[in-house]
Amino acid sequence: MGYARRDGELCADAVPLATIAAGVGTPAYVYAWSVVRDRYRCLEAALDGVDHRVCYAVKANSNLAILARLGELGAGYDIVSGGELERVLRAGGDPGRVVFSGVGKSLADIDFGIKAGIDAFNVESASELGRLEARARLLGRRARVSIRVNPDVDADTHPYIATGLKESKFGVPPGQAVELYRRAFASAHLDVAGIDCHIGSQIADIEPFRMALTALLELVDALGRDGIVLDHIDIGGGFGITYEDEPALDLDALGDVLRTTLGRRTLQLRVEPGRYLVADAGILLTRVEYLKPAPASGYRNFAVVDAAMNDLVRPALYQARHAVEPVVDGDGAGGRWDVVGPVCETGDFLALDRELELNEGDLLAIRTAGAYGFVQSSNYNTRPRVAEVLVDGDEFAVVRKRETVADLLRLESAR
Ligand code: LLP
Repeated sequence: MGYARRDGELCADAVPLATIAAGVGTPAYVYAWSVVRDRYRCLEAALDGVDHRVCYAVKANSNLAILARLGELGAGYDIVSGGELERVLRAGGDPGRVVFSGVGKSLADIDFGIKAGIDAFNVESASELGRLEARARLLGRRARVSIRVNPDVDADTHPYIATGLKESKFGVPPGQAVELYRRAFASAHLDVAGIDCHIGSQIADIEPFRMALTALLELVDALGRDGIVLDHIDIGGGFGITYEDEPALDLDALGDVLRTTLGRRTLQLRVEPGRYLVADAGILLTRVEYLKPAPASGYRNFAVVDAAMNDLVRPALYQARHAVEPVVDGDGAGGRWDVVGPVCETGDFLALDRELELNEGDLLAIRTAGAYGFVQSSNYNTRPRVAEVLVDGDEFAVVRKRETVADLLRLESAR
């Protein structure tokens, strides 16, 4: 299952992508549910034998259908906004399995989280702890607290997505965390629940996770000696995957290291994976509008497609390389092509210098686009956001309709 060629045609599970393009149009995001389900099972297997909870990082792909189905598999959720909490609730997710991350939780975010009865606020500063306590007092409720610790660990990833270094805005240093736990422990409106960190995204090595967990456990043990007992330890997400040929994180080996490092402690282990669960499940389906072969030496071959940087910003923003595959075996002009969109800037490319055989009208699949794809899309150039399609076995459904220009203009007025 997942993505495979059948009779020369790329299919999502049992559905030819050409069938989806004919029915839904292009561009479109397509998600193969079997891939998410398999990844979830692999993660469960890697953590077998440890009391654990998977809190899916909603930001990676927040489509309601994905959230609902992950909830049915038993996942909790890691959210970063009131909007994401609303999505989880609409998808039928259990607020009691939600953790709330982020350095800038607004008053409204905090009130919503408290009223919904989420499991824990991953608190990132002394000021946030103060705000959380004040709001819980005002609402006559108690809020469960985890302190996000910045363990100062180098995760060796793209600088924009490394989050566990001293100079990043996230969490508090271990020394300050102890003070915050004492405050939370003494408060009549806060309950000490856990401890968390998130050191970055797309991490291939196990060692940074081991170092982060070790740093957090030192704190857990020190707090325990003071009588402050935590019920969970959350090491965040960041599990690296293969986009082209880079090594993925060895999840089973990570599981072993986590088991060993935790030792006989009875804390629940939590993880917050986003990309690992959904990236490979998704493709961006796009059609070649025009071919502009190089007119002379020194020029480049451009395939202008109907998707653009506003639909998938990762290549422009993080120098990300997504594999590009023709949906039907190519018989067109061979060569090395830059796959670019219609947006008016040179940074608008989906892939550069790829060996492809292309005709105008061909369908292409931009692979590994299920995480941080649609969710980071925008309406730049007044381009309506594309449809999202969920494939399950031999069936597919539109789980988010294509926007129209009328949708975009609905909130605006000319005076
Ligand atoms: N937990 C927290 C607190 C996070 O900030 C993130 C991601 C995750 C979990 C999930 O990380 P994952 O397992 O997906 O690596 N837009 C970027 C990635 C940004 C990641 C932000 N935080 C990209 O397209 O590569």
